[in-house]
Amino acid sequence: MVKIEKILVPVDFSENSRKAVHYGLAIGRDRNAHVTFLHVINQHIVDAIHDLSIKGYKGDFLEILSKLASNREKELQQFVLPKWREGLDTNFVIKHGKPAKVIVDFAREEDIDLIVVGHRGRSALESILVGSVTRYVVNHSPCPVLVVHLKEREFATEEKERQE
Ligand SMILES: Nc1ncnc2c1ncn2[C@@H]1O[C@H](COP(=O)(O)OP(=O)(O)OP(=O)(O)O)[C@@H](O)[C@H]1O
Ligand SMILES: [Mg+2]
Repeated sequence: MVKIEKILVPVDFSENSRKAVHYGLAIGRDRNAHVTFLHVINQHIVDAIHDLSIKGYKGDFLEILSKLASNREKELQQFVLPKWREGLDTNFVIKHGKPAKVIVDFAREEDIDLIVVGHRGRSALESILVGSVTRYVVNHSPCPVLVVHLKEREFATEEKERQE
């Protein structure tokens, strides 16, 4: 039997990742699995805040970073509406660093059984078939990866109805 007890859904707040959320929840419900939603604050943002704080523009670096993380956590909890996750075992995690690497490291450390990602994210350049984060995750993941396309046909129909 396939063991899917822990599912990881990386979220960058794009419509693509909303679709990944939708699949992650559906599979979580189906398998009675724990679902973790992870957002990674990009290292570029962390570096920019660090630069500003060194130059004395914006106050304390760690304080700003922790405020940003708690805002992102609230956004993440709103992105995955409470009514969608009713009766499901879920949690929300905010980390910072290089998103692709953080996602893979998290999956390894937490012994994740399945990662569900969007095939693209916020950049969503038409010319790019698969986003760079997803490419890295597919290449380096310690577990199977489900790549979800925004416009593909649904297999998670019940979940879609639940969310409407
Ligand atoms: N910062 C992030 N935190 C969590 N998950 C992310 C993050 N960035 C991307 N993802 C996940 O990876 C998926 C694909 O996004 P990706 O960044 O690879 O594509 P893109 O933004 O279209 O292209 P690129 O970033 O390479 O220009 C998203 O749908 C989301 O599931
Ligand atoms: Mg991206």
